[in-house]
Amino acid sequence: MTTTESSSTLSAAGTLEAELERLLSVESFPPPADFVRRVPYEADAAAAAADPVAFWADKARELLDWDTPFTKVLNDENPPFYKWFEDGTLNVSANCLDRHVAAGRGDKVAYYWAGEEGERKVVTYADLLEETQRLANGLRSLGVGPGDVVGIFLPMIPQVAVAMLACARIGAVHNVVFGGFAPSAVRERMEVSEAKVLITVDGARRKGRTAPVKAAVDEEKMGDLPSLEHIIVVEAVGAAGLGGQRAPMTPGRDIWYEELIAAADPVCPPVAMSAEAPLFILYSSGSTAKPKGILHTTGGYLLGAAYTHRTVFDLDPETDIYWCSADVGWITGHSYIVYGPLANGATSVMYEGAPDYPDYDVWWKLIAEFKVTIFYTAPTAIRACMKWGAEYPARHDLSSLRVLGTVGEPINPKAWLWYHLVIGGGRCPIVDTWWQTETGSIMISPVPGVTSTKPGSATRPLPGISPALLTEDGQPLAAGTGVLVITKPWPSMLRTLYRDDERFVQTYFSRFGPTTYLVGDAARLDPDGYFWIIGRIDDVINVSGHRLSTAEVESAIVAHEAVAEAAVVAQADEQTGQAIVAFVTLAGDRVGDDAMVAELREHVATKIGKLARPKRVIWADDLPKTRSGKIMRRLLRDIAEGRALGDVTTLRDPAVMAALAAKVAAAGPED
Ligand code: PRX
Repeated sequence: MTTTESSSTLSAAGTLEAELERLLSVESFPPPADFVRRVPYEADAAAAAADPVAFWADKARELLDWDTPFTKVLNDENPPFYKWFEDGTLNVSANCLDRHVAAGRGDKVAYYWAGEEGERKVVTYADLLEETQRLANGLRSLGVGPGDVVGIFLPMIPQVAVAMLACARIGAVHNVVFGGFAPSAVRERMEVSEAKVLITVDGARRKGRTAPVKAAVDEEKMGDLPSLEHIIVVEAVGAAGLGGQRAPMTPGRDIWYEELIAAADPVCPPVAMSAEAPLFILYSSGSTAKPKGILHTTGGYLLGAAYTHRTVFDLDPETDIYWCSADVGWITGHSYIVYGPLANGATSVMYEGAPDYPDYDVWWKLIAEFKVTIFYTAPTAIRACMKWGAEYPARHDLSSLRVLGTVGEPINPKAWLWYHLVIGGGRCPIVDTWWQTETGSIMISPVPGVTSTKPGSATRPLPGISPALLTEDGQPLAAGTGVLVITKPWPSMLRTLYRDDERFVQTYFSRFGPTTYLVGDAARLDPDGYFWIIGRIDDVINVSGHRLSTAEVESAIVAHEAVAEAAVVAQADEQTGQAIVAFVTLAGDRVGDDAMVAELREHVATKIGKLARPKRVIWADDLPKTRSGKIMRRLLRDIAEGRALGDVTTLRDPAVMAALAAKVAAAGPED
């Protein structure tokens, strides 16, 4: 069934709630009858089903411009070290910029940039190309060449795209760190990747305040890292934004971005790179405290980003205005703010700001202003908007929207329906896109106008992608719940973990062998062949769609001098999907009071970033451990979520659990 209510009628008190309740019993939503599809799909699906490798070869020729055409498509001689298009050469920035400008589309808008105080900037493809060439020459003048790592720690300003593209132009490998991470996390990522240059900003604005980013970077003594030779600083807020003084600069080491590009030659021919040359590293959380440097390469990655961006969002580059609300510091931003949209010559909105500043309607205001047709966000954001109320979107005309997307975590059916009714006016297909940093691009998703959607399901694999469910011991499952794997290589898959082939094989290709990629998620397959992602099977917590490792948060907490021991688990959370709960044993006679909770939360914020702060801290005299000393997180999860305790017989001291459970029960659900 389809609905056609507009958000304004639905905002009437009671009507929306009743409609949501009614639709909760609807299992499947067929494509809206009047949806006008722009992108052909059936031929792709048939070609991929017949021969996935030939399908990808055809798409690589159709969607990308090659300097040297490839003759080999897939090299699978040494799994899991697959190679795609290995004898072809191309340049990613040329595919994202030059070819559009050469085709007479230089004046086309690449980004409508919006700042949180109402600032606007229009960046055309020609503008991007010019600034990218200048920065590429600037980087070269600092000694950056092919294979060198360049760190990027920038807010959502157009320069972040320029920085990535400038690296790609000269074959340097970028390592973008999410702007919300603490400078100490940036330092760690610069150190382990041996970055030669870091591109950052003087200050970043958020909700009317300015964070002095460059000063914080200096406090971490990043300049002391032996590999880091230069820090390039974008002057985004200037002295006025920093209380009257420009950001501190160390002569000889630090360079203003604006001065660097002004002095640089405006022409920098793109370097033809091997399709398998590294394009970027992106650190993501895994089962241990050490983040994983996920490595993507040039040809396969760009193909995955471009093909899926076009197919999943039904993109018509001529008419659509596309907006992905993610941050460039995550893979979603890499693939669906920068590389996919630019490779396709699309026009995007880029927004530097929060969804609730200056008011709860700022997103909807932007959609109306720019006549956004495709909007891509995260379930956690949708749930926040639900909480704020339908009256905020109702203030604006959202009729330009035609496709809605979500990513990052399972979406609960009620949030899906709210998105469908209130934002999509009941007429826009919703694409619930499942993928990962490792997969590089979307893997399982509805296709607008093609797939019937079921709220909460990412539905079916895209052409050329082969997911499957296995039992714990590796038997294939035709339906039911199991471990999600991908059984065939795909072009945008990670190639390795940076300088750690062993951990790459161990993490993804040891459990079921070198040709079966272990996703790390559990999923359910229904009788219609639809996938329902359940969540992680490793010690990774998904807070608001952000991946955090329990080990990483634990090691930050135990680094505090008052802490003796800590164990971190996830608790289901209505707002953020999952929330972090920390069980903490304090050292000596330290007292676990509110002040200590605040101190620990702040401590984690400075070690990792605000997103890693525990929502709850539970003081524990002791933690439940097996006889071999392993902390039993399963039992801690039971306690955090108020469940009856599971089997405690393997514990060294079962009394520990009883004491902890009694304490938490006495304190109530949120202490
Ligand atoms: O557990 C899955 C969840 O996010 C994980 C990947 O996280 P990350 O590498 O940070 O990439 C996030 C953005 C692509 C997955 O293993 N996840 C991602 N998308 C969905 C999802 N879970 C359910 N439904 C989704 N659509």
